Amino acid sequence: MDLNIGIIGTGWFSKVHGDILAGMDRVRVAAVLGTSEAKAEAMAVRYPGARGYAGLTEMLDREKLDAVYICVPPMAHGEIESVLIERGIPFLVEKPIGTNMDIPTEISGKLQSKPLVHAVGYHFRYKATIQMMKERMAGQTLAMALGTWMGDMPQVSWWRRQEGSGGQFIEQTTHIVDLLRYLAGEVEEVYASYANRIVHTQFEQVGVPDVGTVTLKLRSGAIANISNTCALPGGVGEVGLKLYTGSGMLHWNPDRLDIVGTEESTSYKLGDNPYLKENEAFIHALRTGDTSGILSDYADALKTQRVTCAALESASTGKPVKIEN
Ligand SMILES: NC(=O)c1ccc[n+]([C@@H]2O[C@H](COP(=O)([O-])OP(=O)(O)OC[C@H]3O[C@@H](n4cnc5c(N)ncnc54)[C@H](O)[C@@H]3O)[C@@H](O)[C@H]2O)c1
Repeated sequence: MDLNIGIIGTGWFSKVHGDILAGMDRVRVAAVLGTSEAKAEAMAVRYPGARGYAGLTEMLDREKLDAVYICVPPMAHGEIESVLIERGIPFLVEKPIGTNMDIPTEISGKLQSKPLVHAVGYHFRYKATIQMMKERMAGQTLAMALGTWMGDMPQVSWWRRQEGSGGQFIEQTTHIVDLLRYLAGEVEEVYASYANRIVHTQFEQVGVPDVGTVTLKLRSGAIANISNTCALPGGVGEVGLKLYTGSGMLHWNPDRLDIVGTEESTSYKLGDNPYLKENEAFIHALRTGDTSGILSDYADALKTQRVTCAALESASTGKPVKIEN
C-alpha cells in the first residue's frame, strides 16, 4: 500500500523527516503545510507531486493523508494535534510536545479517549548504543547519573523566547531527561538553578536562561544531575549521559558508548541513523497496526515533559518540586 504523508512546518527538521520518508519504499510526501503558501510550496517542490498549503483544514480536506508529521516550534502545538485526533489521522510529533504542561495534558487526554497510531520524536531511544545500555542496565543497580547538553544557542528566533521554546531544558535537554527515564526509571523530585550569564549580552530579546543545573531524585533511589548551557560558541560543545553502577561506568554520547569496568573496557562507535529507525517504526505501525517498534508515545513523552517543566518551576521558586507519576 502506498502511504501519503503530510508534513507540518517548513523548517530544518521537516526536511530531515521529509527526505527520509521520500527515500522509503511506497511512501510519498504528498503535502506540506507552512505558515504561508509560498513557504509551503518552496518546500513541497523537494518532493515530486507534493502540494503546499497554508491552512490545516484545507490540507486535510483536499488530501487523503495516511499520517502527518508535526515539526513546528514548541509554542505552535495544540490545535494541530486536536484536529488530527478528531479526524483520526495518525501523527508523529517532534519533541518537545509543548512549552509547558497545559497543551500536552489536554492532548494526552484526547488521545486516551480517541486512540490512534502516533509517535513522539525522542529519536535517541533508537540508537543502537542506547539499546545496548538498556540491556546492560536491566538487573543492575544505578548508583548515579550525569547528563549534559552544552552548546550554542540555535539561531531561530522562537528559541530565545521563553514562551516560544520553553527554554533550553524543556526544548533541548529534554532528550537527556528522556534517556535518563528510559534507562533508569521515573523521576520523583527535581531541584534546579538557572541563570543568565552571557547570551543576553550577545543577542537581542533573549528571555531564556543560558545555564542551568538540575538535581534529580529517581524513584529507584538513584540520584542524577543534568546540566545545560547554550552559551558556548558555535561548533564547540558536548552532549551526553554517564551512568555509574557497581560494575563500572557507561559513558554515552551521540557518537559513541564507552563501557569502563574492572573486567572489560570497550568502546562502540556505531554509525546507525536513529531518525531512520524512528521513521521505519512509525511507517511499519501505519502499515500493520503493530506499534511495538515505536519507542516513544505521547503518554510517555508527557512524563518527560513533566520533569522538564518541574525543573523550570524549581528554578523559579528556588524550591525542590515533587513529581507525581
Ligand atoms: N528530534 C530531534 O533531534 C530534533 C532536531 C531538530 C528539531 N527538532 C524539533 O522540531 C521542531 C521544529 O524545529 P526546527 O528546527 O525545524 O525549527 P524551524 O524554526 O527551522 O522550523 C519550524 C517551522 O515551523 C513553522 N511553523 C510554525 N508554526 C506553524 C504552524 N502553526 N503551522 C505550520 N507551520 C508552522 C515555521 O514557519 C517553520 O517553518 C522543534 O520542536 C524542535 O525541537 C527535533
